[in-house]
Amino acid sequence: MKFSSRFPILQVGVIAGVAYASAVVYVVAANSPKAAPAPVDHGGATYVGEAVCIACHATQNNQFMHTAHANAFRLNPKNEAQKVSCESCHGPGSNHLKDPISPSNRGSLVGFTKEWGTPIEKQNAMCLTCHQGEQRMFWPGSAHATQNLACSDCHNPMAKLSETGLLKKATINETCYTCHQQQRAEFAKRSHMPLPEGKMSCVDCHNPHGSTTKPALKADSVNELCYNCHTEKRGPFLWEHAPVRENCLTCHNAHGSNHDKLLTVARPFSCQQCHGNPGHQTTFFNAGQSVGGGAGVNSRVLGRSCQTCHSQVHGSNHPAGARFQR
Ligand code: HEC
Ligand code: HEC
Ligand code: HEC
Ligand code: HEC
Ligand code: HEC
Ligand code: HEC
Ligand code: HEC
Ligand code: HEC
Ligand code: HEC
Ligand code: HEC
Repeated sequence: MKFSSRFPILQVGVIAGVAYASAVVYVVAANSPKAAPAPVDHGGATYVGEAVCIACHATQNNQFMHTAHANAFRLNPKNEAQKVSCESCHGPGSNHLKDPISPSNRGSLVGFTKEWGTPIEKQNAMCLTCHQGEQRMFWPGSAHATQNLACSDCHNPMAKLSETGLLKKATINETCYTCHQQQRAEFAKRSHMPLPEGKMSCVDCHNPHGSTTKPALKADSVNELCYNCHTEKRGPFLWEHAPVRENCLTCHNAHGSNHDKLLTVARPFSCQQCHGNPGHQTTFFNAGQSVGGGAGVNSRVLGRSCQTCHSQVHGSNHPAGARFQR
């Protein structure tokens, strides 16, 4: 293939103020192959049109007709692929019609149920003919793709079971919990992100189709993710607390914890992990080693413990805030 046919060179004149500059712009031709999945082999079958399918599959069609695909394909098809409706996902159906029942003929049609046996790569390639790129930019190589998940493990385009996104369950969280039981348990802990309360969902933080940041986070780092919503923690502060800048997850769990404020460990131990001997006493008992007699409990580890005095653990902008006390 000739280079120039894939990358036609365009001369563009740019007028900026009084200066005139000439720039060379490379435009990728609209029909150039992006990281497109290999075209699916349908064994020479031809398209028969949805009316034929519906004649036998009226039950499925009664559900399907309320979905975003049915609306798009039937009311306002944008191209040939959309016009073929059922067959845009299931592939051309002529060979299926020859013998719809015999298991040995199943290879003639793309099925998305486990029993049908179409390889998952082939299933996903059907969806990706229309949905590659954008949010699916990092699908190849993502944890879900690597684990051989099918698009239809989370999506069911045959019915409108969820408000948005054509999901398998009524909500995003329930869809994820079908496999991620451990995360369900984490969000049930005493202190948790307000996800069970419906204030957020897994996709506020994760892109289930993959991203460049492990584990499929929707930001360049853990901290950037947290700053998206907790902007006041971004700083910059006059007095920075090193571990806060490094990683919020040094002290917090991302999903939930049985300790106050999603802390990874209880206070004061969350501070004492690093500040064992901070220059003043931080052990539970005074020298007397008893609560009842003589010596009392050290006030530095009661209640909010260290934060009774060091209240600004995320950083301080007070000129005298070097110890995060104000
Ligand atoms: C003559 C009736 C008939 C027509 C027409 C027909 N089908 Fe089928 N189809 C069947 C039968 C019967 C089965 C069940 C086969 C089985 O369970 O083994 C089936 C199974 C299927 C499945 C099941 C896959 C799975 O995962 O279980 C899909 C998808 C399907 N058809 C799609 C289509 C499409 C798309 C068309 C139009 C191109 C179409 N059918 C036309 C009779 C028909
Ligand atoms: C956007 C892609 C897409 C389109 C369009 C589509 N299907 Fe499906 N179809 C699927 C997926 C995915 C499944 C598997 C659903 C599941 O997980 O149970 C499926 C399952 C099926 C099944 C088998 C499971 C069942 O519900 O019995 C049949 C039959 C079927 N489709 C027929 C049709 C017919 C007929 C049309 C057109 C009216 C159609 N499909 C349009 C993606 C599509
Ligand atoms: C022929 C092209 C085509 C194919 C194949 C296709 N889709 Fe779509 N899909 C569309 C169009 C068009 C829309 C509607 C977009 C819009 O409304 O902006 C859509 C919308 C969606 C949506 C969003 C629905 C919503 O309510 O927001 C999901 C999810 C989706 N498709 C998943 C799939 C899955 C999964 C498959 C494979 C089983 C698939 N699509 C196959 C063209 C396609
Ligand atoms: C692990 C679960 C999961 C898998 C696997 C998955 N998706 Fe999604 N997808 C989601 C969720 C969750 C949403 C967001 C739904 C919402 O916002 O309501 C979504 C949204 C979408 C949308 C609509 C938003 C957009 O990006 O335009 C499309 C289209 C889509 N997915 C296509 C696909 C395709 C194609 C595949 C397979 C290559 C796939 N998905 C695999 C969970 C998944
Ligand atoms: C069909 C099962 C299934 C569903 C449904 C599912 N996942 Fe997963 N997910 C997996 C498997 C398998 C792995 C890889 C092993 C592991 O880490 O547990 C994984 C891994 C992940 C990871 C770690 C990614 C990484 O890079 O390490 C995240 C984050 C994740 N899933 C989020 C989600 C979200 C969000 C949803 C719902 C939109 C979802 N999953 C739905 C099966 C599933
Ligand atoms: C507030 C943001 C946020 C929300 C909401 C969120 N996650 Fe996470 N998730 C994270 C972060 C950050 C990590 C990395 C944790 C780590 O490295 O210790 C993570 C890790 C994961 C992992 C990798 C295994 C692990 O626990 O480290 C999975 C799987 C996962 N999340 C699934 C989910 C599911 C499913 C949901 C929805 C029910 C969800 N997450 C909601 C931020 C979030
Ligand atoms: C999508 C927005 C969003 C993201 C991203 C987010 N949070 Fe939150 N977070 C919230 C909301 C909303 C609350 C509840 C606030 C309230 O109830 O006042 C909350 C509460 C908290 C709490 C207090 C919990 C309690 O029990 O009072 C902590 C700690 C926290 N988040 C830490 C984090 C960390 C660490 C990250 C990054 C891994 C993060 N958040 C990412 C929205 C977010
Ligand atoms: C050195 C440990 C530590 C690190 C690192 C840390 N936090 Fe905290 N965070 C705490 C403690 C302790 C509390 C409880 C404060 C209280 O009870 O007043 C807290 C409370 C919170 C709260 C709820 C109360 C409030 O102040 O709004 C949010 C939200 C929060 N942290 C977000 C973050 C974010 C975002 C990061 C990363 C930029 C982060 N934390 C890093 C220790 C830490
Ligand atoms: C992961 C380790 C780590 C954790 C956990 C941690 N810190 Fe720090 N802290 C540091 C480091 C590192 C410094 C900077 C020390 C320096 O500059 O000499 C620091 C500085 C401080 C300072 C200022 C002291 C000085 O010498 O400048 C105070 C006060 C402080 N931390 C209090 C706390 C409190 C209260 C907690 C619990 C909420 C906590 N830290 C948790 C690592 C940690
Ligand atoms: C009753 C108030 C109070 C409590 C509670 C408290 N501190 Fe302090 N802390 C101080 C004061 C006062 C200083 C000295 C400030 C100065 O010199 O500017 C200090 C200093 C520090 C320093 C810096 C020491 C140095 O050598 O510069 C660290 C680190 C520290 N505290 C950690 C902790 C930890 C960890 C806890 C909880 C176990 C804690 N503090 C509880 C009042 C308190």
